Amino acid sequence: MSENSSVFDPNCTACPRLSDFLIKIRLKFAHYHSRPVSSFGVKNPKLLIVGLAPGLHGANATGRPFTGDHAGIILYKMLYEHGFSNKEVSTHLKDGMKLKDCQITNAVKCLPPENKPTGDEITTCNSYLVEELKSTDKKAVILCLGLISHKAVLKALSLKQSTYPFKHGISYSLDDGHTIVDSYHCSRYNTNTRRLTEEMFSDIFILIKSQIDLNSNVV
Ligand code: URA
Repeated sequence: MSENSSVFDPNCTACPRLSDFLIKIRLKFAHYHSRPVSSFGVKNPKLLIVGLAPGLHGANATGRPFTGDHAGIILYKMLYEHGFSNKEVSTHLKDGMKLKDCQITNAVKCLPPENKPTGDEITTCNSYLVEELKSTDKKAVILCLGLISHKAVLKALSLKQSTYPFKHGISYSLDDGHTIVDSYHCSRYNTNTRRLTEEMFSDIFILIKSQIDLNSNVV
């Protein structure tokens, strides 16, 4: 695990480009959250989902990961169908959505221009992920949505990228004891092009549940 760990700061302005961008977005969309987006869900989850970063009119607007984002439609549907939540659709903070055994976070907590955080921004934000991973039991499964999330998780755990190449549908028992599962990101682009279908994504959750069961039987 990286030494560089910090508790999430809802007022973080550590990345100048991102905080300047959020100021501009706040002027344009006054009612949007437009601040760093904290993780959502239970403490000490059995499943920690790591996305990329908030979307402009989704998580950045509502203040909850994947809520209001196109990518959240399929993600929250899967969570419901596989028993990780009490409802299928997540629209706003007061919609009654409750996750079960699950927490969702992002590799980068602030909205990046064009959905593309820079390498420096991913590195700066990594200290929050370190802290989130520290508070996650080793028996939990970490779902990495896409290559950037996968790399950010390995970085936070101080593990070599080359030992664990990203691959959709793979499960790794990492050297530090954590388990990760990789999936293509459930972005609009990936679902529209059918790089990630609902069936493929559902299979990822079946794999996660069997891995959680396996891990819980290890003493
Ligand atoms: N919304 C999020 O919160 N994260 C993503 O990775 C995509 C959309």
